[in-house]
Amino acid sequence: MLLVINGSPKPHGNLQRMLEKIAQDSGQGYELVNLAKLKISPCLGCVKCAEKQRCIQPDDMAPLYDKIEAADALIVGGVIYFGHPNAFTHTFLERLFPLRHLHPSTIGKLAAAVCVGGDEAEAGVREISYHLSSYFNYNVVGSVFFNSATPPCFICGYGTTCQYGGPARWMTPDEFANFTEITPEMSQKFEDHPEVVKACETLSQGLREAIANLAR
Ligand SMILES: Cc1cc2nc3c(=O)[nH]c(=O)nc-3n(C[C@H](O)[C@H](O)[C@H](O)COP(=O)(O)O)c2cc1C
Repeated sequence: MLLVINGSPKPHGNLQRMLEKIAQDSGQGYELVNLAKLKISPCLGCVKCAEKQRCIQPDDMAPLYDKIEAADALIVGGVIYFGHPNAFTHTFLERLFPLRHLHPSTIGKLAAAVCVGGDEAEAGVREISYHLSSYFNYNVVGSVFFNSATPPCFICGYGTTCQYGGPARWMTPDEFANFTEITPEMSQKFEDHPEVVKACETLSQGLREAIANLAR
């Protein structure tokens, strides 16, 4: 069983669709957890989790610990907001702390990282992978990232006129003066990028093989 964590608050955004493809193609049963639908507070740093390897905060993270421990593999997906995996994703990663005390339950367990960003997704997927492998000793079997080149300014309604948004910043003054319309096809989909689709399929296969090896 895969436990698939979706840190994007956008329902059916690129990240969720990538996660679903990876999980489905792996041939494993899976549960998708949408963090934006849950109430999960940041780590309080009280370290009271050391004794029982569970957090004292009675929020929606509480039922996830057993699932994380029971899963054959944990897939963590995040989106980039302001240069880093967004707060839903980071808060989830922080709250894994109870699992790394006296008897860490994540050592050698399988994981994967997925990240979507406008143009900084590669750094984001490295951050998620590093968090899982370095702090929690997960065996990160693979990762996938997708740069959608789609800033929030394409959906806010003011992208063609706002002087402070992405288009005004990355276009030349002439390009921005001629940028009068934002059309749906400007919002990029990972499905239209064969190299990203292939990377998802490679990750699915890696997960399938690693899980099969667990049973040997
Ligand atoms: C508040 C906000 C800040 C963002 N900051 C960045 C950023 O710093 N770097 C980046 O590459 N993308 C940034 N993005 C773009 C998102 O990562 C991008 O919209 C992503 O494609 C969303 O994926 P989704 O469709 O799966 O939700 C930002 C988006 C929002 C809403």
